[in-house]
Amino acid sequence: MRQAVVYPGTFDPITKGHLDLIERGLSVFDKVLIAVAENPKKKPLFSIDERVKLVKKVVDSFDKVEVWAFSGLLTDFCDQRGVQVILRGLRAISDFEYELQMSQINRTINENVETVFMMPSEEYNFISSGIIKEVSELGGDVTGLVPAQVAEALKKKFKS
Ligand code: COA
Repeated sequence: MRQAVVYPGTFDPITKGHLDLIERGLSVFDKVLIAVAENPKKKPLFSIDERVKLVKKVVDSFDKVEVWAFSGLLTDFCDQRGVQVILRGLRAISDFEYELQMSQINRTINENVETVFMMPSEEYNFISSGIIKEVSELGGDVTGLVPAQVAEALKKKFKS
């Protein structure tokens, strides 16, 4: 039985690596609910509203994708939306330890929630939102690594 999946992240900002994972999610699940975490601990460059708007613009052409902002526990968000599966991307071995910890704590908090992992395409394996922001702030070209709307938003952000 196919079902919906929650794809959570800070998305500060959304990259082509995230987009690749959303597309992979859609090939297996009925619906992908993108859950944009407020995550004040990470001191995001883009506000929660800006991140949600950017994600919405980027996935505008997708049929079975919803975009939500959330704060608090991810498993509570899953419960509220009636979703039992969390999707996370695994880019490299370095991601594994943290992802293992996160999936196990989530399962401990809420035994009904399972995490599944997918590998993004190799061409996006080295991308993270942090590295995109660093290159962009220093005047480097990130087109090709982020959707056009994000490249534009980054340019604006670092000009002001
Ligand atoms: N392509 C490109 N980059 C990717 C990626 C992909 N497929 N998958 C992950 N990344 C990047 C992200 O952009 C991020 O980069 P950055 O650190 O340079 O910004 C990094 O990998 C992963 O960051 P991390 O903080 O691990 O995850 P996240 O920002 O994607 O989201 C939450 C973490 C929001 C899912 C998690 O903190 C959470 O669930 N918070 C809610 C509170 C909670 O329930 N806590 C208990 C469980 S931990």
